[in-house]
Amino acid sequence: MTEAIINFTNSLYTPTCMELITKEEIRDALSSGQLLSKLWLLDKFQIIFEKNPEIKKLDTVVVGGWLGLLARALNHLDERIVADSVDISLSATTIACLTLDNCPGTAILSDMMLLDYSKYNCVINTSSEHLSDITSWSQKINKGSLVIVQNNNGKEIQDHISCVDSSLELEKILNLDEIYYSDEIIFPFYTRFMVIGKK
Ligand SMILES: C[S@@+](CC[C@H](N)C(=O)[O-])C[C@H]1O[C@@H](n2cnc3c(N)ncnc32)[C@H](O)[C@@H]1O
Repeated sequence: MTEAIINFTNSLYTPTCMELITKEEIRDALSSGQLLSKLWLLDKFQIIFEKNPEIKKLDTVVVGGWLGLLARALNHLDERIVADSVDISLSATTIACLTLDNCPGTAILSDMMLLDYSKYNCVINTSSEHLSDITSWSQKINKGSLVIVQNNNGKEIQDHISCVDSSLELEKILNLDEIYYSDEIIFPFYTRFMVIGKK
């Protein structure tokens, strides 16, 4: 994660970059809740790799990937991972392109509801609370894919339109074939849930 943060903050030295992002967005992206929840995901991801040495390559997409920090960290985690970052926001994707500079993965401007998931065998969504219909989104993912989804109960936060109250509720919405991990972390302002499984 340290490498990803360095690449992100370095990208802010690029002329015009600071016009694309607010101080509040930088604060939120580097907040303890954001960073600890990404470290939690990376930790569980690493365990999956250790348990499954037969995995040859994970063509991964981080949807709602925002400024590209998680995709950058995943590309750095293991050489078997190529992680793209997809976001609907042009300004976020412009910064994510810089965060992912010199990386096997790329930043893509797209609505995750319209994305072609056929080339990906690993799909990560830490922004599922921003979707109006998580079930319709999850139905677009290829059968057999590794799926990692986070959500939270921060219903009062702007743009959080599909919060859940437990990881079990998230499991039910995703309707995966196998569940490898399902748990929660309590932060001062919300509880974050994560489900890892196979579609
Ligand atoms: C505030 S950010 C990330 C917050 C998230 N809880 C996390 O921890 O990563 C949410 C991102 O989702 C993106 N987003 C929302 N709806 C989307 C969609 N339909 N397709 C792609 N990106 C989307 C937004 O543009 C934004 O960059």
